[in-house]
Amino acid sequence: MSLSVLQGKTYFVRTFGCQMNMHDAERVSGLLDSCGCLPAASPDDADIVVFMTCCVREKADTRLYGQCSSLKSAPEPPGGKRVVAVGGCIAQRDGAGLLTNLDNVNVVFGTHSIAHVAELIADAFASDDPQVRCEEVEESAATDMPWHRETAYHAWVPIMTGCNNFCSYCIVPYVRGREKSRPFDEVVDEVRGLVRAGVREVTLLGQNVNSYGRDLFGAPRFAELLRRVGDTGVERIRFTSSHPKDLLPETIDAMAEVPAVMPQLHLAVQSGSSRILKAMNRKYTREDYLALVEAVRAKIPGIALSTDIIVGFPGETEEDFLETLTLAREVGYAQAFTFIYSRRAGTPAAEIPDDTPRAVIQDRFDRLVNVIQDTAFAFNQHELGCTVPVLMEGPSKHDPSILQGKSPKNQTVHTPIPAGADAAAFTGKIVDVKVDVARTWYLAGTIAGEAR
Ligand code: SAM
Ligand code: SF4
Ligand code: F3S
Repeated sequence: MSLSVLQGKTYFVRTFGCQMNMHDAERVSGLLDSCGCLPAASPDDADIVVFMTCCVREKADTRLYGQCSSLKSAPEPPGGKRVVAVGGCIAQRDGAGLLTNLDNVNVVFGTHSIAHVAELIADAFASDDPQVRCEEVEESAATDMPWHRETAYHAWVPIMTGCNNFCSYCIVPYVRGREKSRPFDEVVDEVRGLVRAGVREVTLLGQNVNSYGRDLFGAPRFAELLRRVGDTGVERIRFTSSHPKDLLPETIDAMAEVPAVMPQLHLAVQSGSSRILKAMNRKYTREDYLALVEAVRAKIPGIALSTDIIVGFPGETEEDFLETLTLAREVGYAQAFTFIYSRRAGTPAAEIPDDTPRAVIQDRFDRLVNVIQDTAFAFNQHELGCTVPVLMEGPSKHDPSILQGKSPKNQTVHTPIPAGADAAAFTGKIVDVKVDVARTWYLAGTIAGEAR
């Protein structure tokens, strides 16, 4: 089927899950743009609706079903026929099986089949038969695929796909396949091109960036990649996610020495109990993790540490949980993503019996959230009175008179839009802000210099 059928069609892409999915969604939008499609403001206005799905927790799974069924009662789209396409991790996991429960889905495409999304959608316009493509094999994260970026000043750059770690609770290795690193030159050339296009900050992406290059060279070479990306002239480098077992001293040195690497590290701990960490197959102990934090802080004083924590892993006792609480306080996280354990069929942890009442797990979760709020608040107090360079993202969604951006430590910073100024003129600019308010989840202050 010719792709010309897509010319002038409107599309809407909704993304669930992690940054990897956000980046994949940008590739899908880029492919549709290159076929002459136009973005729509909402799914109801679109001829093509694409859901980029996540299955890391049960909640993410159920959201897809809700979204697809609400489309059934949506008005007819401009072109008469609406094509609904499901991509991402649920598509990769379930393949054609998705169609059994979702009778208004026309296209299913897996995480390794993004390059084919436009032709699958074109075929679906021409035929009533569902189009399914879910390759098992990894394709390289193709750089030659068109790419539609949401912002001109920031870009997600995948440096590797897949995961080899098989944490016992996690579905990701089953839906994203094994680790596959992109060659050095491919990543560095991409960042150079982005810098030429005006990008100021890149976030290097992988499920475990610290093992970047192991599949290519037999040993991780992430430190070298950081230095080479630093040489491109990009002003800000961030990366996620970082598995503690693979964070090497040479990577900490590169973080400290490459000026563009921001003083921020996401280091997922998952639990503060060595017993639970063993059951999670994380391959480090509480003591290993705390020693790593000390080594990072010795080289990069004041660094902002963030983390992921799971509460209610099967068999977690009150003592185990208290170890998580004390670890969170000891590290003093600037931010944490906290999750209640969700049983994922097919993972080893799903087989572990557990009779901990739901209310007990919820209570632990609430106590953890309180501790993280305390540590985040305490962390932000250190910025009071300081002037921080803020990469401005634009007006705040909650208050259009406020500009919002990110500090080097990834803190959200608010400042009033100067009288008579246009917020758009600041978007993508770096502006010094003198901080005079430090709350739990944001800093606020006044502009103390020219935008650059
Ligand atoms: N690769 C990243 C790492 O190890 O840091 C994490 C990627 S995963 C998509 C994001 C987070 O989801 C994990 O760090 C974990 O805290 C959480 N997660 C994964 N599986 C989960 C499950 N079955 N139940 C609850 N949370 C889960
Ligand atoms: Fe999942 Fe563990 Fe891989 Fe992260 S490192 S994606 S938590 S299996
Ligand atoms: Fe979800 Fe897949 Fe990411 S399961 S968290 S979208 S890798």
